[in-house]
Amino acid sequence: MRVTLKIWRQSDRVSEGRLHTYELDDVSPDMSFLEMLDVLNEKLNTEGEEPVAFDSDCREGICGMCGLMINGEAHGPEVTTTCQLHMRTFNDGDTITIEPWRADPFPVLKDLCVDRSAFDRIIQQGGYISVNTGAAPDAHATPVPKDKADRAFDVATCIGCGACVAACPNGSASLFLGAKITHLGELPQGQAERDTRVVNMVAQHDHEGFGGCTNIGECTAACPKEIPLDVISRLNWDLHAALRHGH
Ligand code: SF4
Ligand code: FES
Repeated sequence: MRVTLKIWRQSDRVSEGRLHTYELDDVSPDMSFLEMLDVLNEKLNTEGEEPVAFDSDCREGICGMCGLMINGEAHGPEVTTTCQLHMRTFNDGDTITIEPWRADPFPVLKDLCVDRSAFDRIIQQGGYISVNTGAAPDAHATPVPKDKADRAFDVATCIGCGACVAACPNGSASLFLGAKITHLGELPQGQAERDTRVVNMVAQHDHEGFGGCTNIGECTAACPKEIPLDVISRLNWDLHAALRHGH
């Protein structure tokens, strides 16, 4: 396959960036999108040009590091992570525009890499359960209703990639936040800190500069883990309950 790539190049956080055009004529349809970028970087290295900086780690769809805007869509045209996207999704001769996540709380560090540490700071405000674990308890010591266990597991699949923020016209991280609140709020072990968790995490979300949710739904459409929109209802429900409780 032959593809034309328009890639955002930006040398650091403060410099202005712009799209650069590259041609690749030896792309296999079986390559992943990131392997295609690896091929481009090998070519740039050979030609003495600086390779394109982009993030990846697991390349298996589980770490959340690899977010890119591809032709204006977070993670590209399929419901998957960028690392699980394959070049067979595109056509021979296509022009593909590749940009970093666009959101004020995710500043561009270099080229396609953004700083997503705002998510880490939100998690630090309550995305955990603080109990002494001690020895492993018997599995049946704390019964969990099946529907709640399933719901907690389903939303725990959020990998913190940030596609929901990049896709949202408001730059809101409500889907990410709702996934974390729902995951811990469904489980008996998460009840002790349920009120403080939601109040502190929402405060950090707003402090980082993420926008509010206006029910547009672009987040859930872009989410590679198909986190449903109703986690945001759960987030709002828990926040109002905490405020009623005097937090
Ligand atoms: S909710 Fe979905 S899109 Fe948002 S960070 Fe989690 S996995 Fe990524
Ligand atoms: S590199 Fe880990 S999810 Fe894509």
